[in-house]
Amino acid sequence: MNVNNNLICDVLIIGSGAAGLTAALHLAPHCRVLVLSKGQIKEAATFYAQGGIAAVFDETDTIESHIQDTLVAGAGLCDPHAVSFVATHARMCVEWLIAQGVKFDTHPEDEAKKSYHLTREGGHSHRRILHVADATGKTVQTTLTDQALAHPNITILEYHQATDLILSPPLPGATQGQLQGAQALNHKTGHIENYYAKSVILATGGASRIYQYTTTPDIAAGEGIALAWRAGCRMANLEFNQFHPTALYHPLARNFLLTEALRGEGALLKRPDGSRFMPEIDERAELAPRDIVARAIDNEMKRLNAECMYLDISHKPPAFVLEHFPNIYQRLLELGIDLTKEAVPIVPAAHYTCGGVVVDDHGRTDIERLYAIGEVSYTGLHGANRLASNSLLECLVYGWSAATDILKHLPIISPVNVPACLPAQQAGTDDNQVLLQHSIDELRTLMWNYVGIIRSDLGLESALRRIQLLQQEIALHCQTFPPTAQLFGLRDQTQVAELIVRCAILRKESRGLHYSLDYPPLLTNGASHHGSPSILTPITSINKNPLSAGKMPLNSACQAHG
Ligand code: FAD
Ligand code: SIN
Repeated sequence: MNVNNNLICDVLIIGSGAAGLTAALHLAPHCRVLVLSKGQIKEAATFYAQGGIAAVFDETDTIESHIQDTLVAGAGLCDPHAVSFVATHARMCVEWLIAQGVKFDTHPEDEAKKSYHLTREGGHSHRRILHVADATGKTVQTTLTDQALAHPNITILEYHQATDLILSPPLPGATQGQLQGAQALNHKTGHIENYYAKSVILATGGASRIYQYTTTPDIAAGEGIALAWRAGCRMANLEFNQFHPTALYHPLARNFLLTEALRGEGALLKRPDGSRFMPEIDERAELAPRDIVARAIDNEMKRLNAECMYLDISHKPPAFVLEHFPNIYQRLLELGIDLTKEAVPIVPAAHYTCGGVVVDDHGRTDIERLYAIGEVSYTGLHGANRLASNSLLECLVYGWSAATDILKHLPIISPVNVPACLPAQQAGTDDNQVLLQHSIDELRTLMWNYVGIIRSDLGLESALRRIQLLQQEIALHCQTFPPTAQLFGLRDQTQVAELIVRCAILRKESRGLHYSLDYPPLLTNGASHHGSPSILTPITSINKNPLSAGKMPLNSACQAHG
């Protein structure tokens, strides 16, 4: 497979979470697959998923009801076709996952019949979440990883950070070159290497790490969005970053989530004085969609000048709490909090990127043979707010459908044309770490403060100016600093931040996860964005020379569409 530092495969998958590994396992019986992962193979948002996966398994539930709940949560911005596509294929894809070895919780009295214990989360009108206690993602990630490692046709390279897609120079008359593969920084050797493939799948996850407070792991930095944008793909709906209402508020615990299934099983949100506030805000109370609950918590915190609100399930029998939430119970106990006896301090935190790279039913992007699946993509499923537990499902459905499409076309794609002996490049060391870390911290703080749960024109414009200043600085660093993981990361994160702010500026209304003090009402007619996604189109693909890592492109001009 090795050609002078250039690796060739049939399909290159960037990302080893649920989306990437699902696609890899569907492809592997038929072709050679190479998976690149920025960190350890299991270090993905998938690993941390708690609540579960939504699919219709209960006799009294229907696909139509799953569709309706998704549409309602999406606040008028879901693509009904995408919603129906996912809900219809949900059971088949979850059954595939079960066949890979994931053992979802069943009713103990019904072990033989395999009737699954279905939990409930906000916005779902039925119990329809399959789960493995309160650590569903750990089992999903571990099972898929074990299967992928065991497959002879799958090669996995950890600590390989994709830094750019490789496109050939456009032919005369064409606006875009042909996709050839991707470049990646090998963290262990410091080399920038070239990977060539007939098809490339971006499965790099979401971008919530560009916010100061988040439930996501470090790898969720939105790099796939930046790569696709530079290569010339459209982006949509990036203003809709979901804030999970209940992240633990504790100085010693970073990013720890308290699953929405706690509220599904009866946990209540309370003020510091012990009173409830959700019934005053929405008839669904604690089980209203996430955007409503997160805003309510944010509002109460500001109104009362409180550091946090509280989540309380101590009124339920301890045995029930322990059975359903053993991992959360244990983690909290280590921090001195007894979930069965007391309320837990919580704050909202950035959790999920609803927008992303525009794709169709098969995960196809605007670039031929480039696919995007999972949280990096915009399929139209989530609209202005994602329904809980629909995202792992989206990874499974589009992992399968992208693989199916690739396999249809793979035999007729000519062999990859690898440029002769392109040497791997030597990247630098992190001598300038402090400076770069400071810029990353600055970016995350400004995104939290100006592009957070509540927004305003003034804040968004201010954020954009600051991001542009950071970009100018990064441009200077790119001329003088050696290319490193941190510099690539910072370049890509500022790019994604800019795209999020541009999408937010486009939306002159409050809808779903985007709430603007300047445009509080939901637009119902005559307005450019009513019911339509915010789409950004790159005017120029400036990734003309992706092999020259020393000259890192920063941002493309963009055109906005309502
Ligand atoms: P990820 O699982 O994030 O994987 C991304 C992969 O891309 C990683 O392997 C990473 O290393 C790699 N990568 C990133 N950048 C690069 C790069 N430049 N080069 C190479 N590799 C790269 N959803 C649900 O449906 N149900 C839940 O219960 C649920 N609970 C959640 C709980 C938490 C705490 C969090 C954070 C999220 C939760 N979600 C849940 C959301 C869900 O986990 C994610 O949306 C989903 O796992 C995304 O999967 P993915 O494969 O798209 O990306
Ligand atoms: C949770 O368990 O609350 C997270 C579920 C999700 O993000 O879908």
